[in-house]
Amino acid sequence: MKNYLIAPSILSADLARLGEDVENVLKCGADLIHFDVMDNHYVPNLTFGAPICQSLRDYGITCPIDVHLMASPVERLVTDFAKAGANSITFHPEAAVHIDRTLQLIRDNGCQSGLVFNPATPLSYLDYVMDKVDIILLMSVNPGFGGQSFIPSTLDKLRQVRQRIDESGLDIRLEVDGGVKVSNIADIARAGADMFVAGSAIFDQPDYKKVIDDMRAELAK
Ligand code: DX5
Ligand code: ZN
Repeated sequence: MKNYLIAPSILSADLARLGEDVENVLKCGADLIHFDVMDNHYVPNLTFGAPICQSLRDYGITCPIDVHLMASPVERLVTDFAKAGANSITFHPEAAVHIDRTLQLIRDNGCQSGLVFNPATPLSYLDYVMDKVDIILLMSVNPGFGGQSFIPSTLDKLRQVRQRIDESGLDIRLEVDGGVKVSNIADIARAGADMFVAGSAIFDQPDYKKVIDDMRAELAK
């Protein structure tokens, strides 16, 4: 089977017991965690910053932390999150002023770099920076909230990006974020994704292991 990664989004975790909940979801089979940073400016919601990421490290969480910046400006946050223990940092190109420079800044800070595309953001932002991205993240909902429905046009966009990655010969992860569930993860994988963010589908269920096992079973089909 392909090397698929399941990344629970802590947006839907029990924030009053975050360390414990993250530990639990990792024990239940998650590969890494997805950390949604919202600033009430680029998106109409507000979540958490680098000190919370640092707190998870201090608590003893050692898995990769995938930071998704839904914020503007992005540069300062890159260095803050790199210091706080992030492993990968992705940002929305239309929220950044110097896309090439920010991608380089992420790598210079020892993290994997990535660009995030909203459902209506054109893929042309990739044109001159394919060699500077380790992750391409396609949003399958409009960013800002958990628990929304998967937007079906993402499947076609995933196929386009998969083709671009394969043609480039580069080692780039294709991540999808929003409305991912047991019932649609196989179709999303077939369209080319290999990294799956799931918030409500996992954290809103009492048995995280069952959901993650069911997702892996779908991926193995
Ligand atoms: C949305 C966030 C997502 C969100 C996904 O802006 O980027 O990571 O937590 O949540 P679900 O899986 O519930 O759609
Ligand atoms: Zn996200």
